[in-house]
Amino acid sequence: MIFPTEKFSQIHTPFYYYDKSLLEQTLDTINAEAGKYEGYKVHYAVKANVDPTVLGIINGKGLGCDCVSGGEVERCLMSGFAPSKIVFAGVGKADWEIELALDANIACFNVESEPELEVIDSLARAKGKIANVALRVNPNVDAHTHKYITTGLSENKFGISMEMLDEVVDKALALKNINFIGLHFHIGSQLLEFEPFAMLCSRINDLQDKFEARGIALKTINVGGGLGVDYVNPDKNPIPDFATFFATYNKNIKLRPGQELHFELGRAVVCQCGSLISRVLYVKNGLNKKFVILDAGMSDLIRPALYGAHHNIENITSAETETETYDVVGPICESSDCFGTDEVLPLTHRGDLVALRSAGAYGQIMASNYNCRKIPASLVL
Ligand code: LLP
Repeated sequence: MIFPTEKFSQIHTPFYYYDKSLLEQTLDTINAEAGKYEGYKVHYAVKANVDPTVLGIINGKGLGCDCVSGGEVERCLMSGFAPSKIVFAGVGKADWEIELALDANIACFNVESEPELEVIDSLARAKGKIANVALRVNPNVDAHTHKYITTGLSENKFGISMEMLDEVVDKALALKNINFIGLHFHIGSQLLEFEPFAMLCSRINDLQDKFEARGIALKTINVGGGLGVDYVNPDKNPIPDFATFFATYNKNIKLRPGQELHFELGRAVVCQCGSLISRVLYVKNGLNKKFVILDAGMSDLIRPALYGAHHNIENITSAETETETYDVVGPICESSDCFGTDEVLPLTHRGDLVALRSAGAYGQIMASNYNCRKIPASLVL
């Protein structure tokens, strides 16, 4: 990626830089690939990034949005998303969040338990409304991803287990202010293989047969998100393989006539267009190591500290030809505040700018005020 570093002096480091053209190309690819198949609709999983400009671009390209909190629903409404394109998931929706979504007339609640169904029914009744509901099913598919971001195994807190589904469906059908319209799934995030998605399709096909046998028609099947990105070679693979992703579903899922297939992609939409830009404060010699100390820390990008995640580190202003090996660390008082060990970089000096790549998803949005630090700003160019 070529960084417009000449424009970076207008803003304090650390900040998040988003490459507008890459984001647009990514969205165009999604639309072209999903558009090949009848009834495929993509909702952007807002949890990955809520920068208002980014949201505006995504809305402009016609995607819907998938929210997991009342705050996200508010952000999406503020960014101009039509309520009819907003779905709302989450294992613990508070009453005020449900009420806010009911008042906005969102498209669908993805419901994760029987008690939640009862609460939505009673809050909807009090407002004289009928809530569209999809039930989130836990399909017990192993997504082969990090244990913190796998969500489809049976002992997860998410969704309703297959064994208990019939009972919850009966309940949904019996409640007067609930309109049961579909099923929702999400098996995990940062999946780099397509096989788990195919496996999910086969689980869905079995379930659909059962529903059909009971005479229940489902309007939507929502398969969640999960498509991973290449954190190691972001320049080689700036746009994830959406063609294979949608083709995998098309090949494996048996939709009923008129049925919609919904997707909730987060990371794959925004990850590669974003980088955390930081300035080198000091280069410090240790006994056996050299440290590059950045002005960005784990409060700005927590993924390495939290998940041991890898983000490529690039010195984007150095003119040096010689290289050196460094540990690249932040200023925060925690040993886990480290972005990379034994990183080979051009000879690095105080004042150089460093990019932490592939940080557009779950980067800025997971930033905190730890150590009374400021939330990094955004620059979308
Ligand atoms: N739908 C549901 C129900 C989800 O739970 C998630 C992500 C998505 C869609 C979007 O998944 P994606 O397409 O982005 O994989 N903070 C972690 C990732 C957590 C993902 C949580 N759920 C990280 O930094 O890797």
